[in-house]
Amino acid sequence: MNNLLIVDHDKCVKCGICANVCPSCIIALDDNGPKCVRDRGCMACGHCVAVCPTGALSNSRCPLEEQIPVPAEKLNSEDAYNFMRSRRSIRNFKPQLVEEEKIRKLLDIARYAPTAANSQGMYYIVVSDEKLIRQIADATADWMELEMAAGSPRARYFNSVLKVYREQGVDIIARNAKQLIFALARRLNETGVSNCEQSWAYVELYAPTIGLGTTICGFIQTCAQTGYAPLRELLKVPTKQNIVGVLMVGYPKYQYYRLVERQHLKVEFR
Ligand SMILES: Cc1cc2nc3c(=O)[nH]c(=O)nc-3n(C[C@H](O)[C@H](O)[C@H](O)COP(=O)(O)O)c2cc1C
Repeated sequence: MNNLLIVDHDKCVKCGICANVCPSCIIALDDNGPKCVRDRGCMACGHCVAVCPTGALSNSRCPLEEQIPVPAEKLNSEDAYNFMRSRRSIRNFKPQLVEEEKIRKLLDIARYAPTAANSQGMYYIVVSDEKLIRQIADATADWMELEMAAGSPRARYFNSVLKVYREQGVDIIARNAKQLIFALARRLNETGVSNCEQSWAYVELYAPTIGLGTTICGFIQTCAQTGYAPLRELLKVPTKQNIVGVLMVGYPKYQYYRLVERQHLKVEFR
């Protein structure tokens, strides 16, 4: 059919697992082993290669030689549970900026978050310019005013936020963050916002392992997701891109000593 799959027939045991896991259903098994049955549709997720127990399969879109073995050591579930519970939104930062290399390391993990049809393609802009951050927060406040005037259901909430921001002079919008990360996705990617949410989850969980703290900048993010032109202009967002997420990042000023409780689990089994 095409040259997508490369099968080492000496190693292939024709177990069919590659075909079973292919999300696009483009792999079938015949007497010779796996073969690709459709020219298009591979989303380069790499499942077929990663799952092959004998290392018999490569895929030209995600070659065997680019995949590394899964580490043998597994996180125990209690440690994993407590680790995830200990993630907190960090809104108080030390004055120093996070180094570029560290921000690259932080964002690198986001590449492994799930994206619809493995669309990936997130692009980031890191803003460390104090004046620009202030302009962004001010533009968001202006947008809130417009939303209130247009009868937004969030009018009362925005009104109280604006009181804090404009009358009390407290930066409830950007929390005096020294750095903001903007996530951009292609305008044509309708799942950009959902993809970004997944990415932020990875980034927020990974951040404390490299000494960083993050919080989703919800007001700016919501404003940006509407395509608010003044915000796009401040960031010089290319026409083909949309802002899909905004995150504040920095070195946490405080340490947390306790794990909080949450609403109890509500679940129904049918
Ligand atoms: C979509 C979304 C938007 C958020 N927006 C803001 C925000 O604008 N400012 C802020 O300080 N925290 C924001 N947060 C953080 C939440 O307030 C926080 O997750 C929640 O209070 C629970 O606290 P924790 O994250 O420390 O566990 C946001 C979180 C999410 C998921």
